[in-house]
Amino acid sequence: MANSVATGRQDAGSTSGLGTSRKEATSYQSARYRRTVNQVEAPELTEVTVTGVVAGGAGIGRAPDGRVIFVNGGLPGERIRIAITERRRDYWRAVATEVLDASPDRVEPPCPYVRAGCGGCSWQHVEPAAQLRLKQDIVTDALRRIAHVAEPAFVAAVAIPPTAYRTTARLGVDSDGRPVYHRTGAAGLVAVDSCLVAHPQLEQLITTKRFPGAREVTLRVSAATGEQLILVEPGPRRQAHASITEEVAATRWRVSATTFFQSGPAASELLVQAVASSVGDALPDGGKLVDAYAGVGILGGVLATRAGATLEIIENHPAAAGDARFNLANLDARVVQVEVGQWRATAADVVVADPARPGLGRPGVRALTAARPARLVLASCDPASLARDTNLLGDAGYRLAEVQVLDLFPHTAHVETVARFDVHDDGAAGSRSSEADAPLR
Ligand SMILES: C[S@@+](CC[C@H](N)C(=O)[O-])C[C@H]1O[C@@H](n2cnc3c(N)ncnc32)[C@H](O)[C@@H]1O
Repeated sequence: MANSVATGRQDAGSTSGLGTSRKEATSYQSARYRRTVNQVEAPELTEVTVTGVVAGGAGIGRAPDGRVIFVNGGLPGERIRIAITERRRDYWRAVATEVLDASPDRVEPPCPYVRAGCGGCSWQHVEPAAQLRLKQDIVTDALRRIAHVAEPAFVAAVAIPPTAYRTTARLGVDSDGRPVYHRTGAAGLVAVDSCLVAHPQLEQLITTKRFPGAREVTLRVSAATGEQLILVEPGPRRQAHASITEEVAATRWRVSATTFFQSGPAASELLVQAVASSVGDALPDGGKLVDAYAGVGILGGVLATRAGATLEIIENHPAAAGDARFNLANLDARVVQVEVGQWRATAADVVVADPARPGLGRPGVRALTAARPARLVLASCDPASLARDTNLLGDAGYRLAEVQVLDLFPHTAHVETVARFDVHDDGAAGSRSSEADAPLR
């Protein structure tokens, strides 16, 4: 049966471009841009069968000539009517306009603002258990294509509850001073009177606060204490020094305004559990742990406390490093405020690393494997960089042993993984003692 489509359509190319006026189109001087807009104005309607999903959340299918089509809003197994939004030599982009044969995983988005174009959630049209399955498919695909791991050894995927989990949101501000979500794949803002994924205290800030004259606002709440943190842009610099106290793993953590925090304490808690399980018995009592890309120090702090381990934290953001020093003051911990690639390695039993989207890359792999850990646990928020890092770690003597997919951002296409890398039995990583304390070249 045919359904009209309501999806978040994140990364859609230009979904709203379908409505771009000719006046707007001609106001751009670039011929290339005009061509793109004209294509979007007069899309050819056609049908496609979706065969899978790709990183970013789009479905993938093929045109009759074999060309790849990325379809925002399409799910595997579905026959979809589409509107083409972008034509490239090697692929096209499209949006789903009508579902002709729906996947059993498709559901009506529970939030009315998805239908209004809110860009906060892009996968509300997918049943939550299926979201987790599709995220694992995305990881499998990246590991097969990029790292040539034919059958990744998966630990069962896990998710946080899919509602009321977010405690931080960075939003636009409309002409009335209301904090508003950006419209999916396009210019424009969507005001909301409720938010399915926001923690109730964050939802209250979003729906009741006004910031006249602001361009952007970051709202952060503590689920543990009810503290609120509001960063207005443009705004006074001193706002950035404010902090909240959050609770994760039965411990309180200072989190400053500009420092990274997971989507909320539930996400941080699940990540701690997954990383702890992946570290397993590789960290002996009284051993040495390195937590790289550590943020405010939660992963390293929890693990080192449990094992009575000595901890070294690597974090380059000044406010986050300051929070980590404050949070870990009672542990045998050293906080090194430096780029991971510049870190002077010290020997460690285990390295935990949780880099931003680009992953470890060559500098990160080189610096961290110089500590010669028996085990390196990599938390990654991008399946392609996980796969690239798998290759680099393989070259450095570390083999991917198992990987777990976590859903820390339900109703979106964000994918988190925790991967365990163990040093090769053949000793390809080199001696565990000789190089570790030497300065890196
Ligand atoms: C994804 S966050 C992880 C934070 C922490 N593990 C957590 O769970 O809250 C990545 C952190 O790495 C830091 N970072 C990014 N690039 C870095 C680099 N090249 N060297 C050191 N730290 C870096 C960021 O400031 C951020 O705090």
